[in-house]
Formats: sequence, C-alpha cells, structure tokens
Amino acid sequence: MKFSDPITIALSKGRIFKQTLPLLNHAGIQPLDDPDKSRKLILQTNHSQVRLLIIRATDVPTYVQWGAADIGIAGKDVLLEHGGEGLYEPLDLRIAACQLMVAGAEGASLTGNRLRIATKYVDAARRHFAAKGQQVEIIKLYGSMELAPLVGLSDLIVDLVESGNTLKANGLVPLEFITDISSRLVVNKAAWKMKHATVTGLLETLREAVSLPE
Ligand code: PRP
Repeated sequence: MKFSDPITIALSKGRIFKQTLPLLNHAGIQPLDDPDKSRKLILQTNHSQVRLLIIRATDVPTYVQWGAADIGIAGKDVLLEHGGEGLYEPLDLRIAACQLMVAGAEGASLTGNRLRIATKYVDAARRHFAAKGQQVEIIKLYGSMELAPLVGLSDLIVDLVESGNTLKANGLVPLEFITDISSRLVVNKAAWKMKHATVTGLLETLREAVSLPE
C-alpha cells in the first residue's frame, strides 16, 4: 500500500514483534533491522514514510496517547491497566493470545475478604474481585508472580496463562478465568483525524491480514 503521511508504529520486541511481522508484511512493510540483533530503538522500514519504535510493552499506549507514535500494538492486558485514554482500539490482531486468570495452590480458597493477591495487573485484579463483592489486598509486583504464593507473600496471583507451564512448574493451578487477552491495534485520536486516509488504509489492510486463514 501507499503511505501519503508519515506513520510511526510503536510495538515491543519479542513475541509481539515476531507475530506482527507477517501482518506488517501483508501491508508491504518490512523493517530494515531485527530488534533482537540491533539495539536501535527506531527501526526504519522499506517505506521511507513508515518507522517502528521498539519500546517496553507497557509503554506502548503512553507513546500512542501522547502522539509520539500514531499507531501501537499492545496486549489487552497492558491496555486494561493503561485505561485507554486518548486511544482508539479498532482491531483485535488475534496474536499473542492468552488468558488473564486467578491462580494459586490447588484447592486454595477464592472466597473471603482480605485475601492477598499478588499481580502486575492491579486494576484488572481489583475490578475482578470488586465485581464479586470481595475486598482484597492487592500486592503490586513487576514479574515472576508465581513465586509470591510459594513464599507466603500472597494467597493468590492474577497473571497471564498461555500454556499453563509456568504455573505447573511452580506447583500452581489456574483457579478462575478473568478475561481473554490478545494484542490490539491502537490509534492516537488526533492521528485518526489528521492522517485519516493512511491510518484507515493500514487498518483495513491489517484487518484483511488478520482474517486470512493461517
Ligand atoms: C507470562 C506470564 C506467565 C507466563 C505464562 O510471562 O506472566 O509467567 O508468560 O505462560 P505459560 O502459561 O505458557 O507458561 P512472560 O513470559 O510474558 O514474561 P513476563 O513475566 O515479563 O510478563
């Protein structure tokens, strides 16, 4: 496709980058560097009008909200915590799919007030338990949540589960489903208006790529 406006796309390296590449390729966009090999934070592409920002997953909505990137690719988990201010979320890219779950030791109680929940997903966890009428104590962690119940830091955790291998390796089990997670395309609200033809053109091309059979 042709790009009549400069477009900056923010995404994180690793799984999201790898699974986004075929989608971008469908739109004729190929990065000139591999973020796993390069330390560059701005990747040029084969289109002089299109560049990629390689940033932490949790920072993607912030760059897009403030217009430093026009478009971003971010996990629904990250968007739930960010709140989505200043963003449109027009497309589920159906990549990096997993589930947000409550997990803990087999047979651990899910009821009662004052349960201690360790998680990176503070808002999603609080909303989940509040919807069940439970007041819980949330303990904010930045990773390796599985450790918390093993050493008595928390009763339960709220974390992403894909294969379940990480839970299993630590003697934990999924106990309660919260929501399905996948990566979403987000668009800065001003870019949506100012670069409408380019943004919607790219959106429709990606929508087509997402619906192609694998
Ligand atoms: C996620 C999540 C779990 C693990 C689940 O972590 O936090 O630890 O993957 O996957 P599984 O069910 O297939 O074992 P990730 O590797 O994305 O890193 P993070 O801890 O930095 O979020």
